[in-house]
Amino acid sequence: RIMKRKTACRRDIDRLNAPFLSIYQSLIPPKEEKDKQEKLLTILRSLVKKDWPEAQLYVYGSCANSFGFSKSDIDICLVIQNMDVNKSEVLLKLAETLESNNLQNVQALIRARVPIVKLMDPDTGISCDICINNILAVINTKLLHDYARIDGRLRQLAFIVKHWAKKRGVNETYQGTLSSYAYVLMCINFLQQRKPAILPCLQGMEPTYSVTVENTECAYFNEVDKLHGFGAGNGETISHLVWAFFNYWAYYHDYTNDVISVRTGGTLSKQAKDWTRRIGNDRHLICIEDPFEITHDLGRIVDKASIRVLREEFERAAEIMQHDLDPCTKLFEPY
Ligand code: GTP
Ligand code: MG
Repeated sequence: RIMKRKTACRRDIDRLNAPFLSIYQSLIPPKEEKDKQEKLLTILRSLVKKDWPEAQLYVYGSCANSFGFSKSDIDICLVIQNMDVNKSEVLLKLAETLESNNLQNVQALIRARVPIVKLMDPDTGISCDICINNILAVINTKLLHDYARIDGRLRQLAFIVKHWAKKRGVNETYQGTLSSYAYVLMCINFLQQRKPAILPCLQGMEPTYSVTVENTECAYFNEVDKLHGFGAGNGETISHLVWAFFNYWAYYHDYTNDVISVRTGGTLSKQAKDWTRRIGNDRHLICIEDPFEITHDLGRIVDKASIRVLREEFERAAEIMQHDLDPCTKLFEPY
């Protein structure tokens, strides 16, 4: 294992800003795509209305949190006021409705951890997953979206990190690596901890938005327009931040003791969270606290084998950012 070491950033780092920004630009979904998504959503809303007149459809995940790439699937949540509904029944009925209205590849996955209906719209080619009453996901989507509006560097950094993770095969929860959601939280926490800070800690401020879902209070300062220019005192550019992000996860993060926490804008100790032992299948080898479900470690799926893969990938990325002549190509080489 490579020892922790101090590294000063390479002197020509700013030379990489233009190439990183052009990769970022190339990943942003074009407006036509957003229009198609809206069109499909309108169709789905009218179909749902027939069976459940009171229900609402919300988009969550990457199509709504502003961290979505071009050609992403849409994650949709059907909110039915009665929280005790039988989700399987609803999903099966929904699947029937969708199928008889010409949507393709309709599949109800009622036994999944998060039960969903999958579908594909033949007109636009867009696929989506619809889940039921997953309100916390809708709210954490809003939190991410609000953070993205404060400083443009968050979106740039998160796009680069997600792109890297997808290319390097470390964005696969079923293989024990991290979700996109976890990577975005890592980016937010990282920018909260820059000196001076690039992002504030919205949950540490006087709340202007508050909802209680399943006994979980979700409250934070959401008037982010008032925070425009928050990070202006920090002049770090995207290439410097990408370098520092990987350097942190390769050489500075204390995997043995620390939990990163967007909720507090810093790190907490594993001891304090009682995340020191494996319980059932949950291990805590890299700890990322969910901002609202605070007993929930987004790193719980990482096991002994995948933590090695992850850390080796962070080290590889850090080395490339430090030494490579053409990091923007090398970083994203398929594994
Ligand atoms: P891509 O599809 O890879 O572009 O990313 P994504 O932003 O859609 O992220 P992901 O597929 O990881 O998750 C979709 C959404 O589900 C997230 O934005 C969260 O709102 C929610 N989500 C995912 N994992 C968790 C989790 O472990 N806990 C909670 N509460 N929500 C989660
Ligand atoms: Mg998604």
